[in-house]
Amino acid sequence: MTRLTRIVPLAQNLLADVLQAGDLAVDLTAGNGHDTLFLYRSVAPHGCVLAFDIDTVALDSTATRLQQAGIEVYHGMEPARGQPAPGVYLIAAGHEDCAFFLPGAPKAVIANLGYLPGSDHRTLTQESTTLRALDQVAARLASGGRLAVVAYPGHVGGEQESAAVEAWFGSLKRDEWDVLRIEVGNCPTAPRLFVAEKRQG
Ligand SMILES: C[S@@+](CC[C@H](N)C(=O)[O-])C[C@H]1O[C@@H](n2cnc3c(N)ncnc32)[C@H](O)[C@@H]1O
Repeated sequence: MTRLTRIVPLAQNLLADVLQAGDLAVDLTAGNGHDTLFLYRSVAPHGCVLAFDIDTVALDSTATRLQQAGIEVYHGMEPARGQPAPGVYLIAAGHEDCAFFLPGAPKAVIANLGYLPGSDHRTLTQESTTLRALDQVAARLASGGRLAVVAYPGHVGGEQESAAVEAWFGSLKRDEWDVLRIEVGNCPTAPRLFVAEKRQG
């Protein structure tokens, strides 16, 4: 049984609820590829996933995980071209530029913030670029789509980023979005989950 306080599986389950084969999904922080793999399995065999990271170690790690699972991996994507072939597109760019690459309206987006476990902890998400990415994906999310962010208040700068993400979700218009916030009630430094669903138009 999954431990109650494990936030990432909760985030994935809430996204899985709205995903189906053929959808477009986005991982704003590829990292070690766990979320990218989950997203692709939720949209396979006809869908595609765009996964962003600025760390080549992360992109290599994600590519390896996907290839071991037998998934078609492409490196890069022409900005805003037509319907892409099914598979996962690994994009070596900051998520703050994700709008240039999106080929359509994603049904689900995940951002698992912070740094790559086991890698250089100085390469970590930053408040300003995180918020820019959230603005871009929120504007493009499909109707009925969901956006999930896992924020880590426990590292240096993480509390500030987490508070900014909380304020960003709190600012979404009530008549356009449903917003959920989940946190561990007895551990203020534990990861926090924010999920927003764009209401059907
Ligand atoms: C917690 S890890 C992501 C974990 C990943 N989702 C997984 O399933 O393994 C955070 C990642 O965000 C990446 N990152 C930091 N700043 C970024 C940016 N501006 N754009 C895209 N990725 C970024 C880091 O390099 C790191 O790999």
